Amino acid sequence: MSLLSIIKTPIEQEVADFDGYFKSLLKSDVVLMDNALSFLAESVGKMMRPMLVLLVAKSAGGINSKTFSAAAAVEMLHTASLLHDDVIDESDKRRGRPSLNVRFNNNVAVLAGDYMFSMSLGCAAKTGDTRVVDSLSIMGQDLPNGEVLQFDMQQNGSYSEENYFKAIYYKTASLFVCCCACAVYTAGGNDEQVARFSEFGKYAGLCFQMKDDIFDYYSDDIGKPTGSDMREGKITLPALYVLSNSKNPHLVPIREKLANGIYLDEKEIETLIAISKDEGGIDYTNICIERYRRVAIESLPSDIAPDLRDALVAYIDYVIAREK
Ligand code: IPE
Ligand code: IPE
Ligand code: MG
Ligand code: MG
Ligand code: MG
Repeated sequence: MSLLSIIKTPIEQEVADFDGYFKSLLKSDVVLMDNALSFLAESVGKMMRPMLVLLVAKSAGGINSKTFSAAAAVEMLHTASLLHDDVIDESDKRRGRPSLNVRFNNNVAVLAGDYMFSMSLGCAAKTGDTRVVDSLSIMGQDLPNGEVLQFDMQQNGSYSEENYFKAIYYKTASLFVCCCACAVYTAGGNDEQVARFSEFGKYAGLCFQMKDDIFDYYSDDIGKPTGSDMREGKITLPALYVLSNSKNPHLVPIREKLANGIYLDEKEIETLIAISKDEGGIDYTNICIERYRRVAIESLPSDIAPDLRDALVAYIDYVIAREK
């Protein structure tokens, strides 16, 4: 059985129902906004976050209508963050087609992001649980904090593993934590379950972003551009590793530029990518992923039904093994 089938088996009906429910929410009575939302509904993503909400809620007491509202809230906030991310990164492709900022324009993309963000709050409010609203609020602050931290690292040349992990916690893992906490709240679970599943979410989210960052070193088709992180001044873990550990003389001028907040040119990017691959940067990142995978699994409560435990383990394995 594929990892995705193992994930979906205990939540098959709920995943199908959620898909229809989520798409039905993407509406506006202003034609241009409605067109932008239809464009998004035609190309939904992998739905990693709603699947996590459903799996955790089922493991922590059961899925109900509040769980659906929480799952919609996180997927909407995620989608909003991607719309804004593609504007910031000046990216032209998302989910295998032109990104919304290209298909429409930057203004529509920013405003559709704002619209989705507000819809997300409405979904959170629908749960009637202020803990869900609060969790979403914290995470909604973490995402831009992570982006700004990343920007700050580039400007000040303050690249370090510590700052890297801080940035990816904020910009990506925080959302996975929010998924897990909100899922437990809607299922009526206890504080211990909130804490344990949130740890799972944190390490799954860190693995998710490390994997995303590895994709960027290769030219495989993943439905969005690759090779763009360094051009945006983002130095991710594989390169950080060789920058601090390799004695390769070609890295000397690269280090100098990075320390002074200067962008690398195409030739230097090519060199840094090649050295990251050849001198253990990708391997090191995979080792970190494997270590965090184990921590995530150890964080799970011990009393989960076997099919749900298998699904949660398959979830993190899918985060790591996925090809897009
Ligand atoms: C992309 O997330 C943003 C990152 C955190 C790297 P996904 O890869 O889950 O995007 P979609 O929703 O499936 O398109
Ligand atoms: C993660 O950063 C995006 C968000 C958390 C919004 P990236 O800039 O790496 O995301 P992709 O690769 O464009 O999806
Ligand atoms: Mg991007
Ligand atoms: Mg970005
Ligand atoms: Mg990326």
